[in-house]
Amino acid sequence: MKYPTVLLALSGAASAVNLFVSSYAGNVTSLSLTETSGNYTLAPTFYNAACGPNPSWLTIDANRGLLFCQNEGLTSLNGSLSSFTINQDGSLNAIKNQTVISGPVHGTIYGNPAGRRAIALAHYTGSAVTTWYLNGGGQFSASQSFPFTLSAPGTVPDRQDAPHEHETILDPTGQYIVVPDLGADLVRIFSINPTTLILTEKTSLKAPAGSGPRHGVFYNPSGIPGGTTYFHLATELTSAILSYSVTYQPSSGGLNFTLLSQTPTLGLLNHERINAPAGVVVSPDNRFLIVSNRNSTLFSLPNATGGSPIPSDSLTTFALQPNGALVFTQIWPSGGLYPRQFSLSPSGGFVAVGNQLSGNVAILKRDVASGLIGEPIARVPIAGNVTCVVWDQEGQLSG
Ligand SMILES: *[C@@H]1O[C@H](CO)[C@@H](O)[C@H](O)[C@H]1NC(C)=O
Ligand SMILES: *[C@@H]1O[C@H](CO)[C@@H](O)[C@H](O)[C@H]1NC(C)=O
Ligand SMILES: *[C@@H]1O[C@H](CO)[C@@H](O)[C@H](O)[C@H]1NC(C)=O
Ligand SMILES: *[C@@H]1O[C@H](CO)[C@@H](O)[C@H](O)[C@H]1NC(C)=O
Ligand SMILES: *[C@@H]1O[C@H](CO)[C@@H](O)[C@H](O)[C@H]1NC(C)=O
Ligand SMILES: *[C@@H]1O[C@H](CO)[C@@H](O)[C@H](O)[C@H]1NC(C)=O
Ligand SMILES: *[C@@H]1O[C@H](CO)[C@@H](O)[C@H](O)[C@H]1NC(C)=O
Ligand SMILES: *[C@@H]1O[C@H](CO)[C@@H](O)[C@H](O)[C@H]1NC(C)=O
Repeated sequence: MKYPTVLLALSGAASAVNLFVSSYAGNVTSLSLTETSGNYTLAPTFYNAACGPNPSWLTIDANRGLLFCQNEGLTSLNGSLSSFTINQDGSLNAIKNQTVISGPVHGTIYGNPAGRRAIALAHYTGSAVTTWYLNGGGQFSASQSFPFTLSAPGTVPDRQDAPHEHETILDPTGQYIVVPDLGADLVRIFSINPTTLILTEKTSLKAPAGSGPRHGVFYNPSGIPGGTTYFHLATELTSAILSYSVTYQPSSGGLNFTLLSQTPTLGLLNHERINAPAGVVVSPDNRFLIVSNRNSTLFSLPNATGGSPIPSDSLTTFALQPNGALVFTQIWPSGGLYPRQFSLSPSGGFVAVGNQLSGNVAILKRDVASGLIGEPIARVPIAGNVTCVVWDQEGQLSG
C-alpha cells in the first residue's frame, strides 16, 4: 500500500500522515496530521469499533499495510485480537476478530519478513504469552500458549498477586522474544525456531523483588545484530531503568544478563507523587532512550483559552552511551496526564503521546540532532482512556 505521493507533491506545500489511536472507550480512531507552510492540523478522520470494547494496543504490519488491534476485555472473561487492512485514506477494514486469553496488552510480529511470520501477545490479566501464525493477508491462527503461575501468591502487593505479562520484545537478531512480567519480577526469555517459529522457554532474567518490570528495549550501539548488546528495562513499581549487558549463549541456549546500573526515570529531579513509568523506546537514529512518566505530574501547561492550567506528566530523554550507561538529557511535559504509550515518527522528528487520563493525543516536535523534545504542535481530544497511538509508516511530514 502506497500513499499518493505524486498527488501530495502536485497539491503544493501540504504534506500529511495518518496515525491510529486506541481507547478503552471502544474506538480505534484514525487521525490525519497535515502540515501547510509550517502550520499543523491534527483531526480525527475515521472511527472503527470492530476491535471490541476495550482496545489496548496497536501493532502495525508496515510491509503488508495491516493493523492488529488487541482488546483487553476489561469487563469480560476474555480479550480479543483483530486485524484490519489500512486504506490510503486512513480508514480501516476489519478482517478477523478472535477471542483470546484475558487481558492482552501488547503484540510483536516476528519471523521472516519475506516468509513465515507470527505475532506474540502478552496477556496481563490472563498471565500468559500466546502466539499466532500470520498468513500475510490479515488472517491468523493459534500456535502456542504459555500460561504462568506464581509459586507464592498472596504475600506480595496487589499488582504482584499473579504473573502479569506486559510486553513482547524481539531481540535485535530476531532469535529471541523477551517478556517483562510485572507480577513475577521476571523477564521471561523464549528462543524462536527460525523455521517453525515455535517458541521455547529459557531461563528467565530475575529482576529485583518488588520492581515490577513493565516495558524494555534492546540497544545495539553498532547497529549490528549480535554485536555488543544492552537491554534497558523500565520497572513500573520502582520507577527506574535497569540497564543490562546481554550475552548470547550458543545454539539458542538463551540470553545472559549482567546488571550495569539503575537510573531513576525522573532523571535529576525529585518528586513527591509516586511515579509509574510506562513506555520506553530508542530513537530511530539509535542515539537516545525516551521513557514516559505517569502519575508524578511535574508540569503545568498554559491553557490557550486563559482558563485553569493543564496538569501534565512527562517524558524523560537519556543519551545512550556505547558502554550501556544512560546520561540524563531532558525531562519535558507529555501534554497531558498518564502518558501510557508514545511513538516516534519514522524520522524521529515528532513524538505522538497517548495521554491516557487526559483523553488526548499530543504531537510534540523533536530535534533529531540534539534529541530535545519541544513544544506541542497539535493536540486532539479522544473519547475515553487513550491506550496506544501509532504512526502509519507511510507518508512523510516535512519540517
Ligand atoms: C465511536 O465512533 C462512532 C462513530 O463511528 C461514534 O458514534 C461513537 O460515539 C464513538 N464512541 C466513542 C466512545 O467515542
Ligand atoms: C500559518 O500560521 C500563521 C500564524 O497563525 C499565519 O500567519 C499563516 O498565515 C499560516 N500559514 C498558512 C499557510 O496557513
Ligand atoms: C471480538 O471478540 C471479542 C471477544 O470475544 C468481543 O467482545 C467483540 O465484541 C468482538 N468484536 C466484534 C466486532 O464482534
Ligand atoms: C477465555 O477465558 C477463559 C478464562 O480465562 C479461558 O479458559 C479460555 O481459554 C479463554 N478462551 C479463549 C478462546 O482463549
Ligand atoms: C551469566 O552472567 C553471570 C554474571 O551476570 C555469570 O556469573 C554467569 O556465569 C553467566 N552464565 C553463563 C552461562 O554465561
Ligand atoms: C499515584 O500517586 C499517588 C500519590 O503518591 C499514590 O497514592 C498512587 O498509588 C499513585 N498511583 C500509581 C499508579 O502509582
Ligand atoms: C482550559 O480552561 C477552560 C476554562 O477554564 C477549561 O474548561 C478547560 O478544561 C481547560 N483545558 C484543559 C485542557 O484543561
Ligand atoms: C478512564 O479514566 C477515568 C479518569 O479519567 C477513570 O476514572 C476510569 O476508571 C478509566 N476507565 C478505564 C476503563 O480505565
